[in-house]
Amino acid sequence: MTSTYRITLLPGDGIGPEIMTVAVDVLKTVGSQMDLAFEFEEALIGGAAIDETGEPLPEATLKTCKASDAVLLAAIGGYKWDTLPRHQRPETGLLGLRAGLELFANLRPATILPQLIDASSLKREVVEGVDIMVVRELTGGIYFGSPKGIFEAETGQKRGVNTMVYTDGEIDRIGRVAFETAQKRRGQLCSVDKANVLEVSQLWRDRITALSADYPNVTLTHMYVDNAAMQLIRWPKQFDTIVTGNLFGDILSDAAAMLTGSIGMLPSASLGASGPGVYEPVHGSAPDIAGQDKANPLAQVLSTAMMLRYALDQPVAADRIEQAVTTVLDQGYRTGDIMAENMTQVGCKAMGEALLSALA
Ligand code: IPM
Ligand code: MG
Repeated sequence: MTSTYRITLLPGDGIGPEIMTVAVDVLKTVGSQMDLAFEFEEALIGGAAIDETGEPLPEATLKTCKASDAVLLAAIGGYKWDTLPRHQRPETGLLGLRAGLELFANLRPATILPQLIDASSLKREVVEGVDIMVVRELTGGIYFGSPKGIFEAETGQKRGVNTMVYTDGEIDRIGRVAFETAQKRRGQLCSVDKANVLEVSQLWRDRITALSADYPNVTLTHMYVDNAAMQLIRWPKQFDTIVTGNLFGDILSDAAAMLTGSIGMLPSASLGASGPGVYEPVHGSAPDIAGQDKANPLAQVLSTAMMLRYALDQPVAADRIEQAVTTVLDQGYRTGDIMAENMTQVGCKAMGEALLSALA
């Protein structure tokens, strides 16, 4: 029997459409090999949506996403929209999507592939074997807290305000996802906060500590965020699973990504308690190379593998895609961001063709 999955595609801006094309071709190929049928519906988000409708997240897009089994997102944003008022910025559309689908858990794996060790800016012995999962809280914290805004004070001075806030319920639900993730990995969870300074972090630490009683097979440690940033660069292999709030997770996941050679390699999954998740690369829309066939599509392709694994329960199809990525790297194909000596530099399209051949 053929199962049909409804997938919403959000190509977005910059390199988004190019890498999405590759990912969809890969998905269709694996689908036809494995008797999985996909029904794709494309929708607007980010700058593309602003140009077309005036808003970064049209109502219709959210509706389409909610009605699908999973959402595949590429990237949003670009210089063109950087000066618009905040409610019209591409980033606001992405935050709206996360909030609208209640995607409170963002899983960002940073795993180094043996073929790319020399693409890392760090020494081989530091990065070889790195396998970290960052669990980032995604719908709370300073990204969403109120009050926020730029206010005129009585003195005539302007005050820019954001609020970092977490409720115990928000901490507990991301904490449980993190403990369960660590259980399936190497059983070590490091919670990152700034409890030496921030009350919100004190509550975070207290709740995560209390939760740990329910997960006796997970070893919990705590680390301040400044130290965590340093330790990620100093000796990343000390980390298994990291759990942290929205802002700290944004920053640390970029740092962790770079350990693996290129942020152009890393997929992510954003999940809620129920309903469809969003699968997207960790990297952004790279407007500087958009439309030049230079982008690395592998993070997008690996995001589809994550989607098959987590949302559609198709681990064999996911394995196939991940294997194809390994194969093209073994064959020496590299986009500019991961190029190394004696390798064959290719563009986005050619990388896509190499993947299709690897799958055949
Ligand atoms: C990310 C991005 C987003 C974030 C931006 C584009 C709003 O940096 O997904 O990490 O800050 O969450
Ligand atoms: Mg980020």
